[in-house]
Amino acid sequence: MTIVRSEDHTDVAPSNAMSAAVSAPRTEWAENTPLTNMTDADFLLTARALTKKVTSPEGELTILDDVSLSVRRGETAAVVGPSGAGKSTLLALLAGLDEPTTGQVWLGDEELTALDEDGRARLRNRQVGFIFQSFHLLPSLTALENVLLPLELSGVDHEAERARKALTRVGLDTRLHHYPRQLSGGEKQRVAIARAFVTEPALLFADEPTGNLDNKTGERIMNLLFELNAAAETTLVLVTHEVAAANRCHRVFELEAGCLVNSTSNPPTPRH
Ligand SMILES: Nc1ncnc2c1ncn2[C@@H]1O[C@H](COP(=O)(O)OP(=O)(O)OP(=O)(O)O)[C@@H](O)[C@H]1O
Ligand SMILES: [Mg+2]
Repeated sequence: MTIVRSEDHTDVAPSNAMSAAVSAPRTEWAENTPLTNMTDADFLLTARALTKKVTSPEGELTILDDVSLSVRRGETAAVVGPSGAGKSTLLALLAGLDEPTTGQVWLGDEELTALDEDGRARLRNRQVGFIFQSFHLLPSLTALENVLLPLELSGVDHEAERARKALTRVGLDTRLHHYPRQLSGGEKQRVAIARAFVTEPALLFADEPTGNLDNKTGERIMNLLFELNAAAETTLVLVTHEVAAANRCHRVFELEAGCLVNSTSNPPTPRH
């Protein structure tokens, strides 16, 4: 893995980039990359100067500080860093589940941060799958019904068959009619994974998707995510503590105390 300091990396946009006027290809972030050039089809996800502040009893807390990154269509990216570094916060902002205090996010050529909540939900429904660290399954729905839900929202055909297939791919074909309370932690996680990829999203976010799984199941699920990337060109943004999984990704973004401290590019091969 080649380590590149964030200040040297082409993806970490310098703060004066937005005011410059010279056109430069977005594949190489140049100091003078203008904001209007940030929507090349090549980039599926772009974040510019994301900051998230929250108010706590101790006063104002900056949990994400001036984070800029971009991910190309079809790439895999890992977000790594210690507990509390801001990984889940960053993912929620990138997926439009939460709003930054300042900064912008683009999905393709649509600025997510310019949309209201309904607009973001519509865009997510079309393009984004999200595997939450804490699953977020609906307790009153069975495994199958949880996976069916996003398909019903997007009005696709043969949804029951697709939902069954997705649950079979995560090894839960014998748990279709179980409610979340009747599933183990790892099984719940696998339902959440099936629900996230069943719509074949262009962009799939996964927040520690194998955190609750034993090694063997975890490896199988990780392989499945990389298979989705390889077969369907699903762009994958993954929070993980696993070095092996991060090493499989094209890019690694390292957060520390809310700051992007390293941006790494792995060689394109070997892929597993
Ligand atoms: N709504 C909030 N109000 C106050 N503090 C918050 C809020 N959301 C997150 N934080 C704090 O921001 C920091 C980053 O949280 P986040 O969940 O993004 O960390 P993380 O890197 O995903 O950690 P982990 O690896 O443990 O999941 C933490 O210290 C957390 O306590
Ligand atoms: Mg987290």
